[in-house]
Amino acid sequence: MVNTRIISILSGKGGVGKTTLTFNLGSALTDFEKNVLIIDGNLTTPNLGIHAGIPLYPTSLHDVLRGKVDIYDVMHVLPSGLKIVPASINLNDLKGVNPELLSSNLTDLVGKLDFILIDGAPGLGREALSVLKSSNEVIGITTLELPALTDLLKSIRIVKEQKKEYLGSVINMVRNKRYEPKREHVETLLEDGSILEIIPHDENVKYALAKRMPVIHHKPNSKASLKIKSLAAKLIGKEFKIPWYKRLFL
Ligand SMILES: Nc1ncnc2c1ncn2[C@@H]1O[C@H](COP(=O)(O)OP(=O)(O)OP(=O)(O)O)[C@@H](O)[C@H]1O
Ligand SMILES: [Mg+2]
Repeated sequence: MVNTRIISILSGKGGVGKTTLTFNLGSALTDFEKNVLIIDGNLTTPNLGIHAGIPLYPTSLHDVLRGKVDIYDVMHVLPSGLKIVPASINLNDLKGVNPELLSSNLTDLVGKLDFILIDGAPGLGREALSVLKSSNEVIGITTLELPALTDLLKSIRIVKEQKKEYLGSVINMVRNKRYEPKREHVETLLEDGSILEIIPHDENVKYALAKRMPVIHHKPNSKASLKIKSLAAKLIGKEFKIPWYKRLFL
């Protein structure tokens, strides 16, 4: 039996990089020889399968949450070894879905995987909450825009209310511009939510998406890739050094 860590990736605002991080972090942990499953917990606007280039299958997580099939029946293994449970992009599939069933469906997987990463829906609605409740630990993600930061703070408060472990915040798509708040300001704003990693805005992420590949495989030495690999290494207590000329200051 292995110790399975169930981590949800949540944000207040949408479009800040949850799906990108889930896919890439899952891929990086797999490269570090961990047994990893990523799940699309964004039931109304799922994207994880699209990022990973999974073709459309007749069954998905939606059928699991309707009590129709087992989670193993909708699990795919990518060439890298990373496992994925996609959600359906068909609007009709939302009927009769109970997001609260996610938690009970994960019990079977506990002890069999090193990591389960769940890509959350943005905001604080029922979908996001069921993802939060299904996990033990949470990574929050935001950009440096004030609305995204303040919305993440609300999510952090709920994470703490739910007595889940907040691992920290990932600050994504950083451009190092003067209009961006400084690190100390961000730390104060997010109260005691410590900064876990800072990922720059990197066009390679967009090229990777177009190729349905994680950026860490498409451009392994790009700045975003190095930061994501560094985050994966932190999660497993491994050392990962980023060359000084690739470092990003905030
Ligand atoms: N570090 C980055 N550099 C450049 N572009 C990025 C980076 N991270 C994410 N993106 C881009 O930002 C967009 C939003 O990313 P993503 O879909 O991962 O966000 P999300 O939080 O999952 O969105 P949603 O809330 O809609 O589910 C995508 O086009 C993605 O390619
Ligand atoms: Mg998403």
